[in-house]
Amino acid sequence: MTIGIIDSGLGGYSIFHALHQAYPSAAFYFLADQKNAPYGNKTALEIQNIATKNIQWFIDHGIHEIVIACNTMNAVALPVLKERFPTVVFHEVVEPTLEQIPNDTKSLLVVATKLTIQSEIYTKALRQRFPRMKIHASVLPELVSMVEGMRSQADMQAYIEQELSQESLHADALILGCTHYPLARPAFNHVFKQNIYDSIQVMVDQFKDKKLVEGEVKCFTTKDAIYAHIQVKELFQSDVDFTKIEVDHETDPRCQ
Ligand code: DGL
Repeated sequence: MTIGIIDSGLGGYSIFHALHQAYPSAAFYFLADQKNAPYGNKTALEIQNIATKNIQWFIDHGIHEIVIACNTMNAVALPVLKERFPTVVFHEVVEPTLEQIPNDTKSLLVVATKLTIQSEIYTKALRQRFPRMKIHASVLPELVSMVEGMRSQADMQAYIEQELSQESLHADALILGCTHYPLARPAFNHVFKQNIYDSIQVMVDQFKDKKLVEGEVKCFTTKDAIYAHIQVKELFQSDVDFTKIEVDHETDPRCQ
């Protein structure tokens, strides 16, 4: 069966890209819901609604196994999605990302979208696992739009420096708790010299012992197929065609 991958845009593309490189004959459908990006500055109810419609789109295309390549959707919509779509297999991103943190980490900074930080999905799990760890959590509300707008690493570095405290930049470890943020990795590498953890390889590893069905790979966007093509060519050197799709994001009655 084809595996679906969903995000608001390029963050999910980096996970799709890594999965496709690791498993080149496997069938993947990637959906970039760029019309609704950034997810992180919306409300939890809006994301639950958007996510419900997007998952329904995959089901309508015969896809019942989906990678939630988006921390924000994972944080605020996954429990609702599991309830609404009990037969769908969801692969979440937050838990595998957290599992990388070594036990002797004394202090940690997690950066993510506003909704992810507000949900406390990372901080609660970290506190439970590492009760003595000093945890900093920071929102970078503009960074997803900067990535989508293909802003320079220098611009993103300046933005990150302006948003993060000196104390947090000296933590032992940094979690990039948004799948878009690895696209600003050179900028993060400049401002944070200790260990940085992201979600890409851990998501690839989720499938390493699985027998993946061979088949077509397709990329879809809810916004502008030509711009999406330009973005992935520029950022990933991929020559991939996107198909523009319409997903009816009118409010689902269950999300009112
Ligand atoms: N890349 C997603 C995440 O990991 C969504 C970012 C956004 O659209 O705000 O949270």
